[in-house]
Amino acid sequence: MAIIGIKRLRYSVSDMDAAQRFFADFGLNPAGGGAPGLFTLANGSEVEILPAGDPALASAQIVGDGVHEVCWGVDDDASLGALADNLGRDHALETVDGGFRALLFGVPFSFVRWTPRKFANAPDPVNAPGVVRRLNTHRKWRRRARPKVINHVVFRLPDYIEAGRFMRVRLGFRLSDVQTGFGHYLRASGSNNHHNLLFLNADAHFPGCDGQLRFDHANFGVEDIDELMIGANYMVRRGWQPSDIGLGRHRIDSALFYYLPCPAGGEAEYGADADYVDDSWVPREFDVPLFGYSHFTHNVPPFLEMEPEWSFKYLTEAQVNEGLNDV
Ligand SMILES: [Fe+2]
Repeated sequence: MAIIGIKRLRYSVSDMDAAQRFFADFGLNPAGGGAPGLFTLANGSEVEILPAGDPALASAQIVGDGVHEVCWGVDDDASLGALADNLGRDHALETVDGGFRALLFGVPFSFVRWTPRKFANAPDPVNAPGVVRRLNTHRKWRRRARPKVINHVVFRLPDYIEAGRFMRVRLGFRLSDVQTGFGHYLRASGSNNHHNLLFLNADAHFPGCDGQLRFDHANFGVEDIDELMIGANYMVRRGWQPSDIGLGRHRIDSALFYYLPCPAGGEAEYGADADYVDDSWVPREFDVPLFGYSHFTHNVPPFLEMEPEWSFKYLTEAQVNEGLNDV
């Protein structure tokens, strides 16, 4: 039962006009054809924004604007059927176009058969002193960022550990890494992304965590650091609020990031150069969460003014599997 990635994020928003302008400026392609709230990405995935209260939105327990449904792409009909059989044991399933939907810990998740579209990426080779991979060739010049994929989606949940265990036992997700007391990074079994899903602790001592189930952010993958920063510059020129932190690189998953406050809820993140992993990856625990959060940031936020202690460990198999029998 292989889930291969995020097919669609459906947002519930208070300000449709601002949300539409934001995602168009962000570089998503408006689908047109009388669907003003629908945007597509190069791999065929979609962002759909709907006004809060729209009858097409599944009932959710998510507080505030943001993603109110995650639609997962599934590799074949047999996998889709196996997922439905599994979840149908103890959840009400609703038929949706191409698959089914269930409400899991307050978040609507749907599952549909999906074959992502192929697309081309050609990141410029990187030079370093003594290692010339690009001779007499300048880097690509760009005008706009065009995100190709939806890399991951993030929610803050009061029961984030139990929710993560459910995703692993019942839906085949893998644990990639743990930030103690902060979050569990989860990978769909048919994906090599370090994580497709991050469950944050809604009760963490961190700005914005108020104990409630909320959408946090979604990550949109671009080719490299140039495309990421071209996108960030374009958004500022269009009048959107820039990131306080600016460009940074996470230590967990090694990804370059640039977060933008998003009028559709939460933040929209440009991402590039992340770790890709498979089942040979050994999950780690970052017991100093901020050490895992940041390798570097352009602007040092108050919570990183003191460099975090360097600390992490590899999880044993017993630690990785802890609590799974209780699901
Ligand atoms: Fe992220």
